[in-house]
Amino acid sequence: MEYRILGRTGLNVSVMGLGAGGPSRLGQRDQMNTEAESADILRRGLDAGVNFIDTAEAYRTESIVGQAIAGRDRSQLVLSSKKSTGNNPVAPQELRTGLEDSLRQLGTDYIDIYHLHGVAPENYAYCRDALLPVLQDLRTQGKIRFLGVTEAWNTDVSHAMLKQALADDAWDVMMVGFNLLNQTARESVFAATIQQNIGVLIMFAVRLALGSPERLKPVLHDLVEQGQIDPADIDLDDPLRFVLDEGGAVSLPDAAYRFCRDEPGTHVILSGTGNPAHLQANLDSFERPPLPEAVTRRLQHIFRHVDSITGQ
Ligand SMILES: NC(=O)c1ccc[n+]([C@@H]2O[C@H](COP(=O)([O-])OP(=O)(O)OC[C@H]3O[C@@H](n4cnc5c(N)ncnc54)[C@H](OP(=O)(O)O)[C@@H]3O)[C@@H](O)[C@H]2O)c1
Repeated sequence: MEYRILGRTGLNVSVMGLGAGGPSRLGQRDQMNTEAESADILRRGLDAGVNFIDTAEAYRTESIVGQAIAGRDRSQLVLSSKKSTGNNPVAPQELRTGLEDSLRQLGTDYIDIYHLHGVAPENYAYCRDALLPVLQDLRTQGKIRFLGVTEAWNTDVSHAMLKQALADDAWDVMMVGFNLLNQTARESVFAATIQQNIGVLIMFAVRLALGSPERLKPVLHDLVEQGQIDPADIDLDDPLRFVLDEGGAVSLPDAAYRFCRDEPGTHVILSGTGNPAHLQANLDSFERPPLPEAVTRRLQHIFRHVDSITGQ
């Protein structure tokens, strides 16, 4: 497993991070897994060298993370959790009680990175003015080590909230939507995070559309119809076949994770699954070399105008 320094936090983090949210919530969403099975997915990831786990109050998986890390050396783990900000503003006191609850569920007395979760652009000013001082106080108390903010990418496809947050020198870590389909964060976010040495966690590397070629086909079809992809650049019957034939990728998710991993400015690529076989496949992807430069450049070229989708 490759490790990287997470920007200004100085934390040494595995490039693959285990996501306990996303579409499958460790297999809890469709009750595909028992809680013990979900905890086992996390344990297997940790045993393979991952040291970063992301969860959130809203995922209702913090207690599963707590089970998975019980008995391990806490100082070797980097835990990330979040307080939902939702549509109704969170009162400062709710943020304090939310953190206490997260600490209890996780079975720890500090969280390495605590984020405001899914902040909408119109709520950012409130979060900065009313909630950031609370986070700073909680950091002073030692309950949080670093402060983070995550975007609501499905509705904020243009990164409008993060553009505001980048203007304040307050956030140590940002969670950013980025994948090979929508690469807009390269210019609108990473250019600044690199300059400000902000830690970057990537979500949506493989969401639903990049899970398989069958799911990808209708998405690409729509993008061609909308004029965001040049039909001359792509074979709609067998989309992105070249990443397997010329890129040495073993699958679409494999190519998608490696594409994000080797994008300058990214630190941790989050990967969530409830399926042990997918976990192993994803661990293997992070061990593979970079995609050939020509393949990366071709992916950048094909999707250069795409700014309307997230791959949800
Ligand atoms: N705003 C926010 O703060 C926010 C939003 C979204 C996500 N997150 C965080 O970021 C993490 C990553 O989220 P994400 O949106 O990128 O989704 P994700 O949680 O990584 O989910 C990936 C999806 O792809 C499937 N999958 C995983 N590996 C696969 C493989 N090898 N082959 C085929 N399918 C595969 C999973 O289903 P299976 O279970 O069947 O494998 C799941 O449905 C989340 O877990 C969460 O911690 C944060």
